[in-house]
Amino acid sequence: MKVIVSHTNLDFDGLASMIGAKKLYPQAEMILPEKLSSEVEHFLAIYKDTFPFKKSKEVNWDHAQQAVLVDVNQLSRTGKLKTKLHRLDAFIIYDHHPITAETVPFTEGDIRSTGAAITLLIEKIQEKSLAVSPFEATVFALGLYSDTGAFTYDQTTAEDLAAAAWCLQKGANLSVIEQYRDIPLKKEQQHLFQLLLDRTETIEEDGIEIVISLHEQQNYTGQLSMITKKLLRFTGADSAFAIVKMEEKVFITARAVSDRINVLPVIRSLGGGGHNKAASAMVKGATAEEMARKIRQQLYEIVAPSITAEHIMSSPVRVVAPDTAIEVVSKMLYRYGHTGFPVVENDWLVGIISRRDVDKALHHGLGHAPVKGYMSRQPITINKNDQLEKIQELMIEEQVGRLPVMENGELLGIVSRTDVIQAMHGNKKHSQNVSGIARVPYKKTIATLLKRQLNPHIYELLTDIGREAEQRNMHVYLIGGMVRDLLLGRANEDIDIVVEGDGILFAEYLQRQYGGHVRSHEAFRTATWKHPCGLKLDLTSARTEYYDFPAALPKVEMSTIKEDLFRRDFTINAMGICLHQSEFGELIDYFHGYQDLLNKQLKVLYNLSFVEDPTRILRALRFESRFGFTMDRQTESLAKESANNLLAVSKPRIANELIRLFLEENPLFAIDRIDDLGILPFLLKNRDSFESMKQKITRLARATATLTENSVPLSRSLWTAYLFCLTPVPATEACWQEVHNFCISKEDHKLLNDLQALIEGASLDKQPLTALSDWHHLFASMQTEPLLTYFSLVAAEQGIDYLLARDHLNNGRKVAGADLIRAGLKPGPDFKQLLLEAEKLQLDKPDLSPETIVKLLADQ
Ligand code: CTP
Repeated sequence: MKVIVSHTNLDFDGLASMIGAKKLYPQAEMILPEKLSSEVEHFLAIYKDTFPFKKSKEVNWDHAQQAVLVDVNQLSRTGKLKTKLHRLDAFIIYDHHPITAETVPFTEGDIRSTGAAITLLIEKIQEKSLAVSPFEATVFALGLYSDTGAFTYDQTTAEDLAAAAWCLQKGANLSVIEQYRDIPLKKEQQHLFQLLLDRTETIEEDGIEIVISLHEQQNYTGQLSMITKKLLRFTGADSAFAIVKMEEKVFITARAVSDRINVLPVIRSLGGGGHNKAASAMVKGATAEEMARKIRQQLYEIVAPSITAEHIMSSPVRVVAPDTAIEVVSKMLYRYGHTGFPVVENDWLVGIISRRDVDKALHHGLGHAPVKGYMSRQPITINKNDQLEKIQELMIEEQVGRLPVMENGELLGIVSRTDVIQAMHGNKKHSQNVSGIARVPYKKTIATLLKRQLNPHIYELLTDIGREAEQRNMHVYLIGGMVRDLLLGRANEDIDIVVEGDGILFAEYLQRQYGGHVRSHEAFRTATWKHPCGLKLDLTSARTEYYDFPAALPKVEMSTIKEDLFRRDFTINAMGICLHQSEFGELIDYFHGYQDLLNKQLKVLYNLSFVEDPTRILRALRFESRFGFTMDRQTESLAKESANNLLAVSKPRIANELIRLFLEENPLFAIDRIDDLGILPFLLKNRDSFESMKQKITRLARATATLTENSVPLSRSLWTAYLFCLTPVPATEACWQEVHNFCISKEDHKLLNDLQALIEGASLDKQPLTALSDWHHLFASMQTEPLLTYFSLVAAEQGIDYLLARDHLNNGRKVAGADLIRAGLKPGPDFKQLLLEAEKLQLDKPDLSPETIVKLLADQ
C-alpha cells in the first residue's frame, strides 16, 4: 500500500497537492496530518465527504510500504506521522521547498522551486492526460492562489501561472477561491485592521450578520478592500462595511460573502460603484460616523429573503430501521450514493448512521450487527424554516454531515452537506448529481405525438392500460428506450411500463380483463404480460428497493416514478410518459432529459452511475454511435474514472454489450471510443497494438458489409471475431482462452474453434488458389463466419469473392443426388465426393446447367 502525506498544519497547497497525488497514484490512501490550518479545517468541514481522506488510525500501517510526500521533503515536518513514515523504505516526493540535509532519499518525483507545490503535480497530471473535475481544478487553484499570494510573491514562477491557467480551463471556480484564500497585510495595514476589528458593530438583518466598523486617521493606508475582506473573515459575518477617514476623505469599502446580500445599492447611494459583493466609495467633506448612519438606514433593503431548509432539503427521506444489519445499510449507501441515513423506529427518529460509522463497523467485521449499535443517538435536527446560514454553522460547529428536518415530530426531509454545497454554489454542483434534479418535473404534452407515431395496436393497448389504471386509482408510466425513441422519431416496440404500486398485481389484473399470459418474477416484482395480439409488455413496480432490502425499511417506501427514473443510466433514458387517463400523454422529465436529447448529449444522473453498473459505459458508446450523441465532459470523465470497474463485471454481461456495439453499431467507432476511454486494459489482458487492431477490424467490417449487402446471412456469433481482432498476432493459447471466456453460446465457441483451426492450419499459405474450385476444395465444409474472419485477417480478397459465389450457388439450383441417379450413377460412398466435384464445376463454370455438369461427371 502507498500513502499520501503532507506537512502538519496543512495549508491549501498541501491539501491540493495531496489530491493531485491521488490522481497520479489512485490506489494510494490520503492521510491527513493531525493538525490542519484553520482555513483548511474550515474548508473540510464542508467538503469532507468530497474526497476520500483518512486519518492515521484508520489505516493499517503494517501494509504501508511507500509514501508519497507532497509539499514537504523532510519527515520532521509531518508531525506525528513521522514515527510511522520512518519505518517505510521508499519515498516519492513532489515539493517546492529546497533540498536540505534532512531531505529523505527518494526514488521518484520532482523537487523544484516553484511558487506552489501543486504546480509540480499539475504538470505531471497534464503529462499523463488524466481527467480532472472542475471541483478538483478549484482546489488545485486554491493551492496556487494561496501559496503564491495570488501570484504576487517573489517565488512565483511562470509554471505556476501556466498551471493556474490550466485549472481555469478545467473549470476552476474563482468565487470559491476568493472565498477561501488569504493575503498577508503590511504592518500599517495590519494595524488598521486591528483597530477596525476592535470597533466592529454587528447588526442582524433576517439572519444575516453585517458588521460596520469606522475609524478616522491622518495618513492614507492602502489595501482597504483586503482589510475589509479580512474583517469579514475574522468576524465570520456575512457582510462587512469598513468606513475609514484618511486625508480628509472618507473611504467606504463593502464586502459580502452571502448571496443574499447586494452591497452595491448602498455604495451607489454614496456615489461609489463595484459589484454586488464587493464595492467601494469615496466621499469628501463628511465624517465617518455620518456615512455609517446612512449605511445603517439602508441595510434592510439590501438583504434578500433567506434560503431555508425547506428549499434545499431532500424529501421524501430514505430511512433504515434500528435492526437493519450494517452490511445492508452499506449496500443501500452505495446503491443510492448517500452518505448516511436517519434511523427510524415506529415513525420516530432515533438516530443517524453515517457512511463513516458503517465503514468502521464493517472494518471490525460487524456486518451482521444491527445499525442501532453504531448510530449516533439524539441527532441534531432542524426545522423547515431554519436558514442556510444556520444550517452551515451547525454543520461546521457540530461536525455533522446531515440534518434531519422535523415538523411536529415527523421527519419531513433531510439536508446533507451536498445540499448545502449546491445551495452555496447556485447551479454549479460539485458533488453527487451531475444533472440538476427538478423538484417538479418538466412536463410537456405529447399525446398527439403518441397517436401519430405509435403503431395503432400499441397506441390502443396503452390507452386501455391507462383507462384500467385510472379506474384502479393508479399511476402508470411508459418509460425507458421507447420514450426516448418516440421523441427522436425512431421506431421501438419494447414496451416498458412502471407502475406506482405493484407491477405483478396490475399485470394479473390486465390479464383477467384482456386475456393473454403473465410471467412474473417475484424477487424483482416485475411481470411480463403477453397480450393475445402477440405484443409483450414489461411491467415493473416502482417500489423495487422495498423488495431489495426487505429488512431495511420500517414501512413500505414512498418510492415513486421519480425514484425509479433516478436509478437509470442516462437522462435521455430517464423520462416517463403518463399513461393513466387523467394525464395520458404527459411527458415527465425530472432530469432535463428532453433538453439533453435536443442537445445530443449523454449525461449520467449521478456520479456513481458507472460504478454501480459499469456496463453503462459500453451502453454510452452504443448511444453515441447510434444517435451521434456525445457524453458531456463530466460523464466522460466519470466513465474514464470508473472503467476499471469493468473488471468486476461478468464476461457474459460485457459480451451482451459488445455484441451490440460490434454488430449493431459501427465497430470502428466502437474501438476508437473504447480506446479513448481507456477501457481496453479492463476488457482484455492480451491485446494487440491499437493500430493493428484497427486494421483488422477495418478489413473484417468491410468484408462483413460486402456479404450483408449481397444478402448473405451471418450469425450473431460473428461478434467473437471482432473481439478476436483485439488480441495479438500470433494468438497464444491464453489469447484464445481469453476470448472463449466471453462466449455466451455454443455457436460462439464453435466459431472460435473453427477460426483457430483455420489460422493454425495456415491453409492459404500452403498452395496458390487460383480458381474458385480450389477454394471450395479446401473450405467447402466450413461455415461462412470463421472463413470470413480468416480471409479478412490474412487479407485474402479472393476468399470473399469465393464466399459470395458459394452463397449464390447454395441459393440456386445445385446438382443434387437425384440428378446423379437420373444420369445412371449408382448411389454409394463416392456420391459425396461426386457432389463436391459438381459444386466445384458449378463454381468455376456458372453458365453450365446442372444437367451438363452431371453429364461431364458421368463421362469422367
Ligand atoms: N437501463 C439502465 N441501466 C442499464 C440498462 C438499462 O438504467 N445498464 C435502463 C434505461 O433506462 C433503459 C431501460 O433500462 O432505457 C431499458 O433498457 P434496454 O431495453 O436495455 O435499453 P434501451 O434504452 O431500450 O436501449 P436499446 O434501444 O439499445 O435496446
